[in-house]
Amino acid sequence: MTEDPSTFEYEEIDFVTGQPYAQWERARLGCPVFETAGASLGVVGRPMFEVTRWDDVEHVLRDADTFSSSINNEHMRPYMGELILGMDGPEHRAYRNLVAHAFRASQLERWDEAVIRPSIEMCVDDVAPLGRAELVRDITRRYPVRVICAIVGVPVEDSDQFHEWSEQINGGPMHPEAGLAASRAMREYLEPLVEARRADPRGDLLSDLVHAEVDGEKLTDDRLYGFLRLLLPAGAETTFRALGNALTALLLAPETMARVRADRALVPALIEETLRWETSVTQVSRVAAADTVVAGCPIPAGAAVAVIVGSADRDESRYARSAEFDLDRSTQTHLAFGTGPHQCLGMHLARLELRVGLNAILDGLPNLRLDPDADPPVIEGLAFRGPRSLPVVFDAVATRS
Ligand code: HEM
Repeated sequence: MTEDPSTFEYEEIDFVTGQPYAQWERARLGCPVFETAGASLGVVGRPMFEVTRWDDVEHVLRDADTFSSSINNEHMRPYMGELILGMDGPEHRAYRNLVAHAFRASQLERWDEAVIRPSIEMCVDDVAPLGRAELVRDITRRYPVRVICAIVGVPVEDSDQFHEWSEQINGGPMHPEAGLAASRAMREYLEPLVEARRADPRGDLLSDLVHAEVDGEKLTDDRLYGFLRLLLPAGAETTFRALGNALTALLLAPETMARVRADRALVPALIEETLRWETSVTQVSRVAAADTVVAGCPIPAGAAVAVIVGSADRDESRYARSAEFDLDRSTQTHLAFGTGPHQCLGMHLARLELRVGLNAILDGLPNLRLDPDADPPVIEGLAFRGPRSLPVVFDAVATRS
């Protein structure tokens, strides 16, 4: 018997340190769509519903006529500008196509040797002689942001600064002052680079965007900076947490670590099971364009809909022992990259970075294990999840020449 969606007893979950999976399990089993105040996600002034089961999540993401993405522009526009994440229909397709080619699997190969491997090897080499490290601080936070900076065409030396701005921009709905300041600072930094590419295109994504046209018109500044303010945080904030989650899975299960170390053909399964078990992006937002019903729950036009892909990927009707990490799981499809028209543009890049990154860490840090003197790692957060820190020890090795 399903509970009444408006009386489901839910707790507000802390955005940074929260543990939402128990609440989502309770919802899947008793009240798969429930109404919340939305405060923990910065939604105000409209009802909000959370959708938790696989079939319903898939349905909502594929029915873009009923469930519009425009809410993402409402939430994020002050911090990011006009975003493809917030467009619908033909407009969305036209703008997404401007950058889609750069993120195809075939196009990414050239970045592997030129940017991805050197970035991870530099991070690993910095700690390899020390015999101990904090993997979030020393490796996972530093690596994907360097890669996305290089692909977009902004100086990699400034990647730490981009990471900081990205975090503040993503947190804008919760902390508007810091989000707006970071958004302004990022634009001021990017303006001279944009002007330089107008005069002298260089074959990077920044040059493509500066010279791109939709229906014979160049992009407005709001849209151009919107792309840049989306791509840099999307590339920086997601894969780094997913890499931390994969490392957490391995460090908490040394026998799994030993199997993967010995047989690297298991790395793709490690990546897909990590994304299913603990994705770094647990939910995406939609707004109901018309009165509708999901899993028997009426959702009025104008209501916000939190589509919980992280919960769908733990749906017990699809995955046995769904809360457990299981490298040998037979069903490895998941919704961590979403589905439908907005499916993650960076998913091939994310998978490539994760594969190259995990192999480089296993190669460069022999006998990698948790630091026995530190607390065990905890994956935390409501919408973005990852370990805050990963203190480890390993056999020290001389830096490669
Ligand atoms: C493990 C890492 C990642 C995860 C879990 C992830 C997850 C997602 C999800 C769930 C969406 C769907 C949003 C929606 O339906 O509203 C999305 C969209 C998007 N992602 Fe990713 N992402 C990851 C890595 C990346 C990377 C590396 C980039 C690089 C640029 C990227 C760029 C984007 C963009 C631009 C969109 C918007 C696409 C659109 O609106 O058409 N993502 N991502």
